[in-house]
Amino acid sequence: MQDDDNLRVNPSSNKPICSQMATKISRRQALKITAAGVAATQLPVQGQTKNDVDSFLPFNEIPTGQSSDIKLAEGFKYKNLISFGDPLKEGMTAYDPKKLTGKEQQNRLGGACDYTHFFEDPKDPNKGILCLNNESPEWGEHPNKKERELAAYYSVGCSVISVKRNDKGNWQPDLKSPLNKKIHPATKAKITGPAAGSDRLKSTASPDGIQSAGTLGNCAGGFTPWGTYLTAEENIQNYFTGDVKKHPEKENMKRFGMRGKNHYFKTIDKRFDLDSDAQSPLHFGWVVEIDPYNPDAPIRKHSMLGRGKHECATVTIDKDGHAVVYTSDDQYFEYLYKFVSTKKYIEGNREHNMDLLESGTLYAAKFEENGKVNWLPLVFNEGKLDAKHGFKSQGDVLLDTRKAADLVGATPMDRPEDISINAKTGKVYFLMTGNRARSVKRLNSANKVARGSGHIIEMSADHHSTTADWNFLVICGQDLADNKHATFNKETSLSGRFVYPDNGEFDQNGELWICSDGYGFPGFSDGLWHCQVDGQRGLSRRFATAPTGAEFTGPCFTKNGKELFLAVQHPKSHKGGSFPDFTSMKARSSIVVISKA
Ligand code: FEO
Ligand code: CA
Ligand code: CA
Repeated sequence: MQDDDNLRVNPSSNKPICSQMATKISRRQALKITAAGVAATQLPVQGQTKNDVDSFLPFNEIPTGQSSDIKLAEGFKYKNLISFGDPLKEGMTAYDPKKLTGKEQQNRLGGACDYTHFFEDPKDPNKGILCLNNESPEWGEHPNKKERELAAYYSVGCSVISVKRNDKGNWQPDLKSPLNKKIHPATKAKITGPAAGSDRLKSTASPDGIQSAGTLGNCAGGFTPWGTYLTAEENIQNYFTGDVKKHPEKENMKRFGMRGKNHYFKTIDKRFDLDSDAQSPLHFGWVVEIDPYNPDAPIRKHSMLGRGKHECATVTIDKDGHAVVYTSDDQYFEYLYKFVSTKKYIEGNREHNMDLLESGTLYAAKFEENGKVNWLPLVFNEGKLDAKHGFKSQGDVLLDTRKAADLVGATPMDRPEDISINAKTGKVYFLMTGNRARSVKRLNSANKVARGSGHIIEMSADHHSTTADWNFLVICGQDLADNKHATFNKETSLSGRFVYPDNGEFDQNGELWICSDGYGFPGFSDGLWHCQVDGQRGLSRRFATAPTGAEFTGPCFTKNGKELFLAVQHPKSHKGGSFPDFTSMKARSSIVVISKA
């Protein structure tokens, strides 16, 4: 979702100049890394061989242009799986927007569906658990304003829903499953890592600075090889009301873009009232780990991964066995990060692996002139990250991650969004959504278009190393007609061009699929594209178009490649019938399943 808050809050003058260099890794190196990448990003599925993996390729590209419904390439169909407000528990009534109370919404699918991951049952490919983000409030129509606000409050967070195939082979929610859960801003949580217990996190709502509650602004995310879901807290800044200038954390809040404007959350939950003893703004802005198989366990907010407007948390295991998590901070001129765990991943030892994201080293990316990216450690008492610069502990470095990255000289990027790893090659793809505030003076070689509408950076599979090679996969240019800056393959049609690339997903064959977030961009309609990373590199083709007003988010293929779970976020209502119901019901966010017709 776009917001009015991408504007620059980064006061640093970090402006590393770097040059483009082709990514070259030896075949031997690639093979070694591939093995690690596959282990990390493709959980083993019993009985599956490479030949079982289907593909959505080839398809005939569709022209641009939107309607109230999803448009798909010929030969494909979609089925709506579940929508905002639908029950997560057995025995509940069908969604009725006029009856949606706060209590009801605690057991119904959240709204503004975003990142989605499907945990396929390793023993039964006809069952699984779908975890998805609910990025921002979606509203019902209860006649009582307070109930409407309560329902909106509980609509945010994440949804966990078990699914299974019915007799016809179609996926449907399994409402009998005890794992189904709405995770919302008040769900039991705890802070882990170096910032846990910090005085800066203490309030009457969290006397120990460890216990916490809830999650917010859940944009993209990730999943771990030990079967947990990661949700990235992005736009959390607008839910807090109060005078930020008088707040002890005013410097932190300014750097985060928190303004304290009036918001109804404070009337529901004191933690969102900055003038209250319970105020807890620093409890949000983290990467949160959720165990979908243990609904009673508190969700864990991992301070070790830093605090920002996190877009995603993309996990791999490096060649030495450490867990590596790539994250991005989605705002103009913010940074890319990676975390490397202290302990090593042990396959099959879930209990051990569950702690991996609690200790390690966080790095920020600096794109150098020589075609390398250097990962700069954000470690207390190293360089400027000391008491002289306001840091008293590693916890402080992580609570003020943006400031720490400013001080080490990380490269300010063009709104870093999703990060995708190609399990076949181990290469990493960083999606930049664009930066309409970047002037010619502030260009650097990793962000080389003023007022750009996005680009994708490819990085070599050197997850274990503090340096890697990088290159552009594609630069979108300033607008759709910009042939001066855009670097799509020359065979790409106008409909095949995208702007504001937001979510990426590699299918099991190593093919890249991209969703855009370009609502309102002249001449453009949001959709889903296939973009070649090899062969005709940068050849992009439109596979699907979102309903009017909507963007697609969170694409996730089933292991056999036959189906794609896809979120439809913020569709617009139409008088003649709205997505996905096409009745008198207003439009609502949904998860659909796309497959061959
Ligand atoms: Fe929620 Fe960065 O898009
Ligand atoms: Ca988005
Ligand atoms: Ca996004």
